[in-house]
Amino acid sequence: MNIQALETVITDWSGDCLGIGFFSEELTLNSELARLDQNLDGVIQELIKETEFKGKAGEQSCARLVGSGPLRKLVLLGLGLAEEFDLEGLRQTAAIFAKVARTQKATRAAMQLPLKNIDPQQSGQAIAEGIYLALHQDNRFKSDPEAEAAIAYPQQIDLLGLPPQPAALEAAEQICSGVILARELVAAPANIVTPSMLASTADEIAQTHGLTLEVLEREDCAALGMGAFLGVALASDLPPKFIHLTYRPQGIARRKLAIIGKGVTFDSGGLNLKGIGSGIETMKMDMAGSAATLGAAKAIGQLQPDVEVHFIIAAAENMISGHALHPGDILTASNGKTIEINNTDAEGRLTLADALVFAEKLEVDAIVDLATLTGACIVALGNDIAGLWTAEEALAAELKQAAVLAGEKFWQMPLESSYFDGLKSPIADMKNTGPRPGGSITAALFLQQYVEKTPWAHLDIAGPVWAEKEHGYLNAGATGFAVRTLINWIRG
Ligand code: BES
Ligand code: MN
Ligand code: ZN
Repeated sequence: MNIQALETVITDWSGDCLGIGFFSEELTLNSELARLDQNLDGVIQELIKETEFKGKAGEQSCARLVGSGPLRKLVLLGLGLAEEFDLEGLRQTAAIFAKVARTQKATRAAMQLPLKNIDPQQSGQAIAEGIYLALHQDNRFKSDPEAEAAIAYPQQIDLLGLPPQPAALEAAEQICSGVILARELVAAPANIVTPSMLASTADEIAQTHGLTLEVLEREDCAALGMGAFLGVALASDLPPKFIHLTYRPQGIARRKLAIIGKGVTFDSGGLNLKGIGSGIETMKMDMAGSAATLGAAKAIGQLQPDVEVHFIIAAAENMISGHALHPGDILTASNGKTIEINNTDAEGRLTLADALVFAEKLEVDAIVDLATLTGACIVALGNDIAGLWTAEEALAAELKQAAVLAGEKFWQMPLESSYFDGLKSPIADMKNTGPRPGGSITAALFLQQYVEKTPWAHLDIAGPVWAEKEHGYLNAGATGFAVRTLINWIRG
């Protein structure tokens, strides 16, 4: 599929499916649309009246044009109030239109939206993101993926009324290739996405986009003293992989950053086995932080910003066997801190602890970790909002800005140090699990123990990485959440 901004005026365009956006309460046709309406024998006005189209956000009305004129289908797209319409509105509207165009089997489609408060130079990227992400279909696990993919419409989408912006449209495609990689990694089950498979995915990104890759094996991690990470991997038949993928710009790097993604390819809970109703069957998604990390790496390799970025994943599977970590075991992390394991299901923080210590040794300017870390974060913020913890307000502000631009929701949560009492252990430096209240906060406080001085933020993405229902450009299932926020933050 190809997306281009065309300078063609709407009255001159011809193709299968034309979408026109309207703000609510602004349904009077401007002179250009009035001319188009005249050319089409008044069908726009008629469609507005007949379908009682109001221009509400998400509203759509569709008409088939008779005869062999320049257009086959006309779609009115509601945008809501002009003053509330933003980049995310553009993405959502573009997604709706792309899906209508596909249903209508349109080979060539075009869309024209009024922009008002939106910078036209920023609009193309958002629209293209909405289209690419809405049309992404994952048929890898159907017996006949080719047949499923038969609905390959549309082939061409023209954006009318926008200045040409080939660079932004290309960037959108590169960004979405990262989001789609993340979605496909999260959606694929644990018998496919193993720690080794994450490492080979990192290798493919390195080979294709010129990043460098270092993979530490179990022995290498042991030599570095990564007892917390290796404790999680004990019971699995699959070898753990510590993945370190580095993007270095051609010239001098303006900044040096580290991104760490939780890569637990399956979380059974360990001997504190997840029970009935715990959602154990969804725990293939416990590597969504690593998926976002690799998705961002793939996009960054193409976008080539002037920033050095270290992408780090301590990948392992949390299983049970005769080798399993016992509840009560004491582990020593690579910074020397000891941990009493009072719950083997709080495994993500153990893998992240050693990854944080490793990242800090790289002397980066900032570290961000992303993890499907706690059910408690979903209880606190629901399925659509991720939690953000940091002691650095400047970093919080950067991440929030990056997230708003991406249309992804984060909410800053407190690093309430008095809650660390809940992690006190009579025998080791700390326990790995605190009491149920404030469970996502004590998880963040645990991680904080493994960062000494580098500005650091923790993102708990347990809720938004998976969607029960399709919505806008999110299809049901893996969402690819956080990839676009990370990219915006890196490009800063
Ligand atoms: N991977 C889970 C968190 C999770 C739960 C992610 C639901 C997505 C959906 C994590 O490893 C975990 O098991 N956390 C425990 C922590 C508890 C033992 C302190 C939890 O949230 O119950
Ligand atoms: Mn767990
Ligand atoms: Zn987990």
